[in-house]
Amino acid sequence: MQLLIKNIRQLVTVKSNGRPFRRGSDMRDLGIIEHADVLIEDGLFRWIGASGTLTGTLDEDADILDASEYVALPGFVDAHTHLLFAGSREKEFAMRVEGKSYQEIADAGGGIISTVTATRSASKKELKKIASKRLDEMMKLGTTTVEIKSGYGLDADSEIKMLEAINELSEEHFMTIVPTFLGAHAIPNEYKSNPQAYVETICERMLPYIAKRKLARFCDVFCETGYFTVEQSRQILQKAESFGIQSKLHADQFSQIGASRLGAELKSVSVDHLEQIDEGAITGLKQTDCVAVVLPGVSFFLHYGYPPARKIIDAGIPLAIASNFNPGSCMSFSMPMMMTIACTQMNMTPEEAITASTLNAAAALKMSDTIGSIEIGKQADIVLYDVPHYRHIPYFFGSNQVAKIIKKGTLLEF
Ligand code: NIG
Repeated sequence: MQLLIKNIRQLVTVKSNGRPFRRGSDMRDLGIIEHADVLIEDGLFRWIGASGTLTGTLDEDADILDASEYVALPGFVDAHTHLLFAGSREKEFAMRVEGKSYQEIADAGGGIISTVTATRSASKKELKKIASKRLDEMMKLGTTTVEIKSGYGLDADSEIKMLEAINELSEEHFMTIVPTFLGAHAIPNEYKSNPQAYVETICERMLPYIAKRKLARFCDVFCETGYFTVEQSRQILQKAESFGIQSKLHADQFSQIGASRLGAELKSVSVDHLEQIDEGAITGLKQTDCVAVVLPGVSFFLHYGYPPARKIIDAGIPLAIASNFNPGSCMSFSMPMMMTIACTQMNMTPEEAITASTLNAAAALKMSDTIGSIEIGKQADIVLYDVPHYRHIPYFFGSNQVAKIIKKGTLLEF
């Protein structure tokens, strides 16, 4: 089946030229074609070029879409979310506004553990219903691929329930979904007096089963003071690697204990957060292809310091942006909003923010060979915006400018 998108006002390809990501000043090159046509066939980009220059005949039943009013971008890739959870934590939001910190709230019995209680008592069916609605809303905002972590179960049965729900949603929903095992998100109350016993449970019980059933593409650990030490994180991630599950890390969020250094040592696919990254860790990451994933919505929502995105980009480290949608530290999955925050608060240019939300975000999921840019042979995930110029996407914040969403070559109707 063919779909020709004609007369696109401005086509932002973010073309990779065969590389897995863009870094340094290359992040500003968006590979723009003014007035473009794109031919999609069987869910893949088949031809891309200046309007009216396509040679050869179209199939008789080809669909044609006029996009002369629209700017087109690759679908956003949200490479770090905790989208599957029950309950909500608006009470904590109000407490934070009155001055309590994220950690103080967690110490008082709120935080991750309160969402664990709600998620444990929800059925898989209930979790899927809640998540499916969120996935629809995300797509309407231009996201076509999302990573979803477990981590609100924290016992074998509940973690498996979460991963099964994520995998089933990936079969049933239009969104491309990447499951990540985050059993090491917090120490569950049952193991408070012996955290190492929980680490052993993850390594000896959960990971072998998850690997056998291929329930997770990545394994992540919240390596942080009061959560998992560097040594425990290394143990879990090395065990995961032994099963062929690649590592990611929640690194340097509240304190500097060596988490992103561990990511460099293990050659993790990505290190995420990085609010407290230091010069030494930046130097370490430079020697690797590990993607630095920053989460602008978290600093905005928790009202604390932003990660030094400028320094990370200028050091030549590939940088991606993600929403980190979760009920505690970022109750938003709007990638355009994350881009606005990245530009206004982290001094990223609109061009860097776009590359960080598309091609580089795909690299943070090891998927940039198939998604993240508009290039011949890649999956046809393309979003049309009702704007005069691509810079309006981060510039005009707080309203949805998406006009049409094409996922794997299919024009979606919501
Ligand atoms: O990335 N830091 C750990 N996990 C999430 C917060 C999860 C929650 O508060 O429920 C984060 O910020």
